[in-house]
Amino acid sequence: MVKWWKQSTFYEIYMPSFKDGNGDGIGDFAGMTSKLDYLKELGIDGLWLTPFYPSPKVDNGYDISDYYEIDPDYGTMADFETFIQEAHQRGIKVIADLVLNHTSSDHQWFQESKSSKDHPKRDWYIWRDFPNNWVSFFGGPAWEYDAKTNQYYYHAFAKEQVDLNWANPEVKQAMFDVMKFWLEKGVDGFRLDVINFLKVNDSFQDNPYDLEKKEQIHLFDKDQEGVIAIIEEIAEFVHQYPDKFLVGEVGSEELDILKLYSGLNKLDVVFNFNIGSMAKFDVDKLYQQLVGTEQAYDSTQIPTLFFSSHDMSRHISRFGGDEDLAKLVATLMLTAKGVPFIYFGDEIGMRDWITDDLSKMKDVQGITGYKLALQEGKSHEEALLVANEKSRDKSRTPMQWNARANVGFSEGKPWITVPEDGYKVTVEDQINDPESMLSFYKKLLKLRKKHSSLQFGDYEFLRNEDGMIYFVRTDTVEKVLVVLNFTDQPKTLEVEVAATMKLLLSTKRTGLDRESVVTILANEAVILKGDIGNGLVKER
Ligand code: NOJ
Repeated sequence: MVKWWKQSTFYEIYMPSFKDGNGDGIGDFAGMTSKLDYLKELGIDGLWLTPFYPSPKVDNGYDISDYYEIDPDYGTMADFETFIQEAHQRGIKVIADLVLNHTSSDHQWFQESKSSKDHPKRDWYIWRDFPNNWVSFFGGPAWEYDAKTNQYYYHAFAKEQVDLNWANPEVKQAMFDVMKFWLEKGVDGFRLDVINFLKVNDSFQDNPYDLEKKEQIHLFDKDQEGVIAIIEEIAEFVHQYPDKFLVGEVGSEELDILKLYSGLNKLDVVFNFNIGSMAKFDVDKLYQQLVGTEQAYDSTQIPTLFFSSHDMSRHISRFGGDEDLAKLVATLMLTAKGVPFIYFGDEIGMRDWITDDLSKMKDVQGITGYKLALQEGKSHEEALLVANEKSRDKSRTPMQWNARANVGFSEGKPWITVPEDGYKVTVEDQINDPESMLSFYKKLLKLRKKHSSLQFGDYEFLRNEDGMIYFVRTDTVEKVLVVLNFTDQPKTLEVEVAATMKLLLSTKRTGLDRESVVTILANEAVILKGDIGNGLVKER
């Protein structure tokens, strides 16, 4: 039996921003339940929900203060259960975001840990008499002084997100209990937050500095010895439950490191941020990643494909706002080899939101960036630029359902600003328009479901020529040729069997010329199906 996730397309929901069901301006389970039919119709198979546990929300839920409850902003445990049930009834799986690396400083465990040096939970976190030079990923030192016990504790992110000490077996056990609880509640797996951070080097040596990039090299605080062994234990534990899925967030630019985390007895898949957070569209870089992953991965490993998330600017905005390019990217994401993750709102082409009003900024990374810039002597204007560059609010604004009040997201005042131009890009506006972004995503998702080679096929070949990426995916049943012309010029492609090829989808036309040379229009994505046994593209 093929594992369900190998055939699935996931959709990330940023909890506070999808749909508010009770009018308090914050997305919740009731709201999401009311939109399950929309998601079903869109054609996704699995949902990744950002953290929904009680949290002071310094980092919007990535600072958990109770692993066994639902944050009241999102509803009750009963609302959660109804949501899972209703999703499952529609054949939609649900994976929960789990933060194993750190807890909120409000968590009872940390409160106990900091109460005294002798407390049995002292060693659940990382305490030292002196800090080293490690910096937090949000900026500033990664160590916070605690006057009561005259020691420093370690936090890789905000000081309110305290790193757990995974070298302590009690911590591991506590987290296995948490996983068990949610698996038994019916979640279909987990997205594991910053999972390559679970171990730090116990020598606590200073990190080196990259003079060129002017930043610290995180040599001793991630990807440390022992972390893979822990991951294997987590995988073994979770996979005891049939059909549960694990996707890991592994922030690493090195495919050689990334590949250590997934495959047999490890995580099912990991995210590849080299594709996911490309600062601007770069066809060669994209191709290198596709090919590099093919070369680095063994036959038990499957890539992931994503271009946006709650941690970065939306790809349509990052890549210049062009809808044709956004459609090409969507085509690649849903036809290339890998498990795709769509970020909510990308299916309608939602754009980034940027504010020059600091009081409207919600993201801890943006706010911290602003404060540190002021400390470095920058002016308010300069600091605001830094804040805007760092702030992840850009992609966290409410889902744009319609052009009525608060884009149909909430009857109350939304927790974050609704962008003014958001009223022009809505589900309601696109749902019946066959040319819309939404209709395009639906077509792609349908095609992927229908064609086994798009789910499982190997690359017969994968090429990059002159701004055009094209590949053939083949399984035992069929061959599908995907051609993506990322340039403003028409291109030609010599094909072998134009007469028997069927046009499955194009962003620019409805028919196909029956020649041995196919012209790919400027900025066009084309998907063609051919007979098994034939080559589709002329070998050169
Ligand atoms: C990764 C999450 O995606 C991000 O939103 C969060 O700030 C960090 N991990 C810390 O938990």
